[in-house]
Amino acid sequence: MRLDRFLSNLPRFNRQQVRLLLAERRIHVDGLPVADSHHDVREFSRVECDGQTLQAGKPARYFMLHKPPGCVSATLDAQHPTVLDLLDEPDKGDLHIAGRLDFNTTGLLLITNDGQWSRRLTQPRTKLPKVYYVETEQEIGPDYAATFSAGLYFAFEDLTTQPADLQVLSPKSARLSIIEGRYHQVKRMFGHFDNKVTRLHRERMGPLVLDEQLAPGQYRPLTDAEIQQI
Ligand code: URA
Repeated sequence: MRLDRFLSNLPRFNRQQVRLLLAERRIHVDGLPVADSHHDVREFSRVECDGQTLQAGKPARYFMLHKPPGCVSATLDAQHPTVLDLLDEPDKGDLHIAGRLDFNTTGLLLITNDGQWSRRLTQPRTKLPKVYYVETEQEIGPDYAATFSAGLYFAFEDLTTQPADLQVLSPKSARLSIIEGRYHQVKRMFGHFDNKVTRLHRERMGPLVLDEQLAPGQYRPLTDAEIQQI
């Protein structure tokens, strides 16, 4: 919400007072004086007037989990363990998953309570590559790379996938980099060639790489530097 709107919504200030407070630089957001009425105030922002707290701001939380196979990328599931069951954290109901993985897919999963941050990470228009290690049932043919790079038509969504980069590592394994994260996207891309994906592991989302120190099922908070990269 815009800072001037946030302030005028408080019972104690009218619009004229808000204009004055901003002009006199008496409002601080996250410790810094702000005069710009358009400044974005978020649930995480600490807002003060003359040193008095108007909003404490709740902590933004970001975690990297090494997802093991056999758990659901959901916050609740009646039948199976969920990735949130692996987190020993308070207020788990506030958290959501930034880019789900299928039940048996392993690897990098990012979990946060910051919706703007997770949208930047997952929106196709920010063009952050998601990199997967893939193993397949059949050999990966010489025509796969060109087909993936040209994009595949997905009838259900009525769209053509953005150019994807395939690096073949061995006859039945590859590293695939995709921009969007459509439902079962990697499996459907290989499915185009009737080739079943037998192992799928996400190594990276944009600049964020799965920490090798994390065993499957383990997690850690992101560092400030990692958070700022998105
Ligand atoms: N593509 C898939 O098919 N499955 C995943 O879990 C992730 C990407």
